Amino acid sequence: MRILVISDIHANLQALEACLAAFPAHDVVWNLGDVVGYGANPNEVVARVCELGSVFVRGNHDKACSGVGDLAGFNPVAAMAALWTQKNLTPANLEWLKALPQGPVKPDDSLDLACVHGSPEDEDEYLINVHDAAEPLTHPVAQCTFFGHTHLQGGFAMNGTGVQNLHPSYRYVNQAETIELQLASGTTYMINPGSIGQPRDGDPRSGFALYDTDAAVVHFYRLPYDIAGAQQNILDAGLPPRLAERLSGGR
Ligand SMILES: [Fe+2]
Repeated sequence: MRILVISDIHANLQALEACLAAFPAHDVVWNLGDVVGYGANPNEVVARVCELGSVFVRGNHDKACSGVGDLAGFNPVAAMAALWTQKNLTPANLEWLKALPQGPVKPDDSLDLACVHGSPEDEDEYLINVHDAAEPLTHPVAQCTFFGHTHLQGGFAMNGTGVQNLHPSYRYVNQAETIELQLASGTTYMINPGSIGQPRDGDPRSGFALYDTDAAVVHFYRLPYDIAGAQQNILDAGLPPRLAERLSGGR
């Protein structure tokens, strides 16, 4: 089975459109949350992800923008964007966001794979470094758990020798690229496909991943998109300019 794993689109329509045109062949799509928040096109993005598949976990922005969660922990810019999103979502999309399930979700009983937004223990926790990842890898909910939230593509692995950081090293900055990661038996993984709509690892290209279960290979992707278009939409919507600026640097 070829599983397309996507996360953190954040209402960035230009990024999602570019990815939709470039996604590799896949059987299913697993979405790790933060469909909305920050970007200017929440309704269009919700419509497109609903067409893609039905496996979702909710993100902290999905909760905040739909009123399921509060704005605790949100900085002023993120909070402004969440309130703007709440005001601009259609009633149907608001209800759809409210109903998104909390992770962990195990979408397929025949596969030892799970989906979370932050971490299996806490959907709002950020797994940024090997220290953060030690607990979920020591007591894993699956051999491989896909997570988002940090907007940092890569993840962590643990075998007998401890926790390793997995960070794809790309060669370019402005063209499409792919990096493969072969998974090993006897090793547990936390894998982050990266963020489609607001990467934060210094690479402004959209990130996503495809997991080929037969080959046990994760394919990481980076893809350029119309950043200027997404920025213009943010400014035209009256959202904080900082949300447009940060897309250029991938921060
Ligand atoms: Fe996010």
